[in-house]
Amino acid sequence: MLSGKHILLIIGGGIAAFKSLDVMRRLREQGAAVTPVLTRAAEEFVTPLSVSALAGAKVYRDLFDLTDEAEMGHIQLSRVADLVVVAPATADLMAKMAQGMANDLASTLLLATDTPVMIAPAMNVRMWEHPATQRNATRLQDDGVAFVGPVAGDMACGEFGPGRMSEPLEIVAAIAAHFDGGPLKGRRVLVTSGPTHEPIDPVRYIANRSSGAQGAALAEAFEAKGAHVIFVTGPADCPPPAGVEVLRIETAQQMLEVVTAALPVDVGVFAAAVADWRVAMASDRKLKKTKDGIPEIAFAENPDILKEISSLTQGRPRLVIGFAAETDDMVAHATAKRARKGCDWIIANDVSPATGIMGGEENAVTVIDAGGADTWPRMSKKAVAERIADRVVSYLAATPF
Ligand code: CTP
Repeated sequence: MLSGKHILLIIGGGIAAFKSLDVMRRLREQGAAVTPVLTRAAEEFVTPLSVSALAGAKVYRDLFDLTDEAEMGHIQLSRVADLVVVAPATADLMAKMAQGMANDLASTLLLATDTPVMIAPAMNVRMWEHPATQRNATRLQDDGVAFVGPVAGDMACGEFGPGRMSEPLEIVAAIAAHFDGGPLKGRRVLVTSGPTHEPIDPVRYIANRSSGAQGAALAEAFEAKGAHVIFVTGPADCPPPAGVEVLRIETAQQMLEVVTAALPVDVGVFAAAVADWRVAMASDRKLKKTKDGIPEIAFAENPDILKEISSLTQGRPRLVIGFAAETDDMVAHATAKRARKGCDWIIANDVSPATGIMGGEENAVTVIDAGGADTWPRMSKKAVAERIADRVVSYLAATPF
């Protein structure tokens, strides 16, 4: 329930604006008060009268309206609400927000507010996928703006793909979740992270260059959305984020044991760079130089944790997300890896040394699911984590168990 909550609803100028009427109706049914704001373009799609009638409140439209300013100045208006919601958030409105522009009432309120902001983007698929919009989405996520959608589907323009505004019920659920400890409250999310160390003898081991930065960012993003995060980490450079349950392991075999014991979880995210092989007969004494020459090391195959968890018939997480570290032909290899491992999504990244991704601050990923490949621009690992967490929230909301 949303009783006592006050939502400032900014309606942007897109065909999805008509759905915002339903959002207002449902918010009020749940006890929320709604103050609507219309952009000039929104008035082409919905009338101020219908918006005002459904909101049961005055509608604000103009930055330079003398009566409005006398009653409640725009700065005050930007502060009265508990949450500012932009639905639909058009490409233009997102661009203004990302740039910090303030040339109409909606953008001025968004710049002046000190209240959390949630946006429900809605636009043509090409506009959503355009690098400019993707850059703006990343900037907004970095600025702490929460996203609900967009989702993939048939569009009013006749095309198909991501860009469609989330349904009113999903938007209202996201608003309710915001006030109720986050959209993932009550969910268990397991994240594996970092490298594994496979011992050769008590002082030497085989490792890899993973810093654990992407895994730690993911754990932080899920925790911020209210999930109980179980963070299974190898010996990583990056410290675990605050507020998560940390389970430390060294080897792949230990990781499998700890992950299995942590089930059931709603979502499993396998970001660890697990060693594919271990030393078959690790010595319990330090190997010494002898005149017999250089020791030969035989390898044994490690368990594939992602594959084992994906193929569980009982206790499989509702959503299993793997990563694919590739150096060539990334999408083809990752698509084949998704099928081979049996996970739901695979997040492919190019770890060739020239990209600086492994051990670096940024990532450039392609998300592959049953619907195909979705390539995101290069962004901080934190921003990648935020986007994955948002995508998980939308997935769980849209696919009831
Ligand atoms: N993974 C795992 N257990 C392993 C190896 C990998 O759980 N023993 C997981 C990783 O955490 C990642 C995914 O599987 O989510 C893919 O890892 P990657 O290293 O890209 O693939 P590999 O299985 O090593 O395949 P290849 O060597 O063919 O690239």
